[in-house]
Amino acid sequence: MRQKITKAVFPVAGLGTRFLPATKSIPKEILPLVDRPLIQYCIDEARAAGIKEFIFVTSRGKSALEDYFDNAPELEKNLRQKGKTDVLEILRATDVESGGIAYIRQKKALGLGHAVACAHRLIANEPFAVLLPDDVVAADKPCLQQMVEAWEETRGNMVGVMQVDDDQISSYGVLDVKDDMNRLVSARGLVEKPSLADAPSRLAVIGRYILTPRVLRDLRNTQPGVGGEIQLTDAINQSAIEEDNVYGYRFEGKRYDCGSKAGFLEATVDFALKRPELGDQFARFIRLTAGRLGADELKSAGLKTATLKSTGS
Ligand code: UTP
Repeated sequence: MRQKITKAVFPVAGLGTRFLPATKSIPKEILPLVDRPLIQYCIDEARAAGIKEFIFVTSRGKSALEDYFDNAPELEKNLRQKGKTDVLEILRATDVESGGIAYIRQKKALGLGHAVACAHRLIANEPFAVLLPDDVVAADKPCLQQMVEAWEETRGNMVGVMQVDDDQISSYGVLDVKDDMNRLVSARGLVEKPSLADAPSRLAVIGRYILTPRVLRDLRNTQPGVGGEIQLTDAINQSAIEEDNVYGYRFEGKRYDCGSKAGFLEATVDFALKRPELGDQFARFIRLTAGRLGADELKSAGLKTATLKSTGS
């Protein structure tokens, strides 16, 4: 029987410095997008793709994450007594069966590649997914599910990719395209955070991967790369060179970079607008704000024109 992807690694051991001071005491993954923590979106996406075992690579100060997926007997009893069955139903999304979730420690934040390698004993010898919870993807069919379906045909290693603008490219791992087959792209490899001049394409890797166990073995021999960190892309490149089995998948949907403040705010607005219970009131607020910003813009453009005219230039 052909192997299925049933295990996923969630590297959550980063320092989250872009969200300090909030992340001094709260893991980034617990920050709520509307009313659900980032990690909930990621877990739901993984479940939809058939994942049964959830492996979190954590660090000190992440106990709120473990509590989030645990029972909350007092809270549940209280809600039951008050007959709040609708709220109890919402809480069910946080339920992961006993034994389905594992937490392992990355003792030092040595990079994403190092974090993934920490899971090697639990993955053993099967293909697995990696999801970075700060990338949230809104899509009709969840992103990882799209990738798993494509992977059933290709096998090997697959990374989620999206087109980005020139001024963004050096913030990403970038695909070196061999053969572009529309949604599916075969790759010669990946280049981590290249300069614009060195970027081999405009296809950027997002935080969704399906990897072979070989990548785990290679990671353990990978030396620190860009930024002094052990890079996942370097180990994937070993497979690209020796096995020619690396693919990009242009997923359908919109990805939000919730690891950055601007991306998090964009996601908050878009997700809130989709909520029936918030939609009308929030949409009105956004329209008024947009109108006000538009007026301010017109005003400052007008002022500039007036200044230009008055100085005769
Ligand atoms: P980021 O590059 O977003 O780093 O990591 P970060 O520490 O989370 O956030 P900033 O940049 O300081 O604000 C991408 C993903 O890789 C994980 C992070 O937890 C995040 O999910 N990661 C990164 C690790 O688990 N360990 C590491 O050593 C580095």
